[in-house]
Amino acid sequence: MRKINIMSSGEKYFLHHGLLLPKETHSLESLKFAQDFVFDDNDLVAVTYPKSGTIWMQEIVPLVLNGGDLTPIQRIPNWERAPWLEETQLARVVDRLPSPRAMVTHLPYNLMPKSFFSSKAKVIYVTRNPKDVVVSSYYFHQMASFLDDPGTFEEFLDTFLEGKVLFGKWTDHVKSWRHTDLGDRIMHITYEEIAQDLPATIRRFSDFVGNSLSEEVIQKIAEQCCFETMKSNRMSNFSLVPSDIMDSNKSPFLRKGIAGDWKNHFSSDQEARFSALIRGELEGEKLCFPWDL
Ligand code: A3P
Repeated sequence: MRKINIMSSGEKYFLHHGLLLPKETHSLESLKFAQDFVFDDNDLVAVTYPKSGTIWMQEIVPLVLNGGDLTPIQRIPNWERAPWLEETQLARVVDRLPSPRAMVTHLPYNLMPKSFFSSKAKVIYVTRNPKDVVVSSYYFHQMASFLDDPGTFEEFLDTFLEGKVLFGKWTDHVKSWRHTDLGDRIMHITYEEIAQDLPATIRRFSDFVGNSLSEEVIQKIAEQCCFETMKSNRMSNFSLVPSDIMDSNKSPFLRKGIAGDWKNHFSSDQEARFSALIRGELEGEKLCFPWDL
């Protein structure tokens, strides 16, 4: 059994196998619960590096799995309808999850629970342009009181590139989920592809899970999962979270929801440095993304 490797790291975080996790949402018990979690062959887990579209998956995936029944997104907060594998909420809600179960995780591949590897549970891995990830994360750190103040954007870029952020380096996370032996159990998609064509994404997800949704249902799900609808859905926009924990006056969780906002934040020097570093860390990887690195 893998040892839970946990160390204190400042007031707000602790280290789990070298990865920073916030104490507000994670604990030794939640990580033990995740490690002992028994995956079912029908489970579907959406995997993301933070700020890559996790809550978007919490919206889309349960609807794809249940054939377009809107009940979960109308009645159940996102963190309960597709809970994070590693967070404290899972133990509380796991018995209520309908089958097939939808979950999300930010864990790298090597830290997934043992039962995941022997099950046939499927994975959707969402990658987002890291330049937009760092911008989204910068604002998230301003609005979430359980995260450290990000400092200036320049300072936060350094923190991000050094991997001193939640769940470590973006490149390590992406690479870990590219080097798997999951075969056709894993599907890769980018935030940008989802944003470009939501119905096509839902069609791909439906084919992946093998439930052949009708065009009518696909369109219905797409309408419910677009940015504006999610932003006004209190089960999805985090307005149920007290403002001393997440202050949407500082920055809403559903902030802009676009690809390419980094262009409004990076200087040309920052862009060059960021791209060179990420490119270097991905050298030798045969990765093809819809954005230039
Ligand atoms: P921005 O801050 O760039 O707006 P996560 O859920 O992994 O924390 O990711 C949050 C990011 O996903 C935010 O990005 C958020 O706006 C975006 N997002 C969530 N739902 C979305 C949707 N329906 N359409 C587009 N972007 C969405």
